[in-house]
Amino acid sequence: MSGSREVALVTGGGRGIGAATARELGRRGYHVVINFRGNADAARAVALEIEAVGATAECVQADVCDPAQVERMVDGVLADRGHIDVLVCNANTVAPPFGPLASLAWKDFIDKVSGELAGAFFVTQRVLAAMRHRGGRIVYVSSSAADYVGSGRLSHSTAKSALNTFSRHVAAEAAAHGVTVNTVAPGAVRTEATAAIFTPEREKHLAAHSVLGRVLEPEDIAVVIAQTVDAGMRGVTGALIRVDAGFGVLVGGPSSTA
Ligand SMILES: NC(=O)c1ccc[n+]([C@@H]2O[C@H](COP(=O)([O-])OP(=O)(O)OC[C@H]3O[C@@H](n4cnc5c(N)ncnc54)[C@H](OP(=O)(O)O)[C@@H]3O)[C@@H](O)[C@H]2O)c1
Repeated sequence: MSGSREVALVTGGGRGIGAATARELGRRGYHVVINFRGNADAARAVALEIEAVGATAECVQADVCDPAQVERMVDGVLADRGHIDVLVCNANTVAPPFGPLASLAWKDFIDKVSGELAGAFFVTQRVLAAMRHRGGRIVYVSSSAADYVGSGRLSHSTAKSALNTFSRHVAAEAAAHGVTVNTVAPGAVRTEATAAIFTPEREKHLAAHSVLGRVLEPEDIAVVIAQTVDAGMRGVTGALIRVDAGFGVLVGGPSSTA
């Protein structure tokens, strides 16, 4: 067992919102465990950036939808560090199939929903069991898409709505163990996941429908996640925090967030 820093595990921490979150938590002094599925180079690059600012980091490969791999990852971190204080469930496990109900295959629909929930379920179960001894903080990365209808996002919206409900139930169960559980719901964020769909026209449309007049960067989300797990936020649990550049403020809301 080594180190006295608080330990933060970020699933899907090698790229996009997860990478920005890992960097932000590193800047704030955590030992950051960067989980990735396949892209070891990206995860390692994030770890090097964290080490460059004087914090510590490690990369752990695991598919968060596979309970055996989650068990190996979590037990390995606990064996090395003794505790996990912060869990950020962020991994972008399944790209959503787009289209109206009539065009969706059941398999694609349910793969999206079950992949989203598997990515939260197994790692939460394992980490929460460890957090029971000294408390902790959990954040789920959902999406503003859970709130909006249209634009062929039936599977994605359904999956993220289910994640929001899952999060509230975990918050209720975990409170007795000194664990806060919150959900951060980003709007449209520029990452590799959205690169193909954020054409210049789409970005213009999204920006025009947001109060801030722009799409978001991963760092916009990371700073809110890091703030949500700050010790000073101990009175906040079961909350849904929208970080959507003000999309939801406009009448009707957006119909095309990621
Ligand atoms: N981008 C947006 O506009 C937006 C908006 C709202 C919500 N979100 C949510 O924000 C989260 C992150 O999205 P993003 O845009 O940052 O995604 P991204 O750029 O595609 O990055 C996804 C990360 O998740 C990891 N990952 C995927 N499946 C995994 C698995 N089964 N096990 C472990 N790691 C896995 C990837 O690992 P590898 O690097 O190893 O492949 C990668 O590091 C997602 O939950 C997404 O739904 C995104």
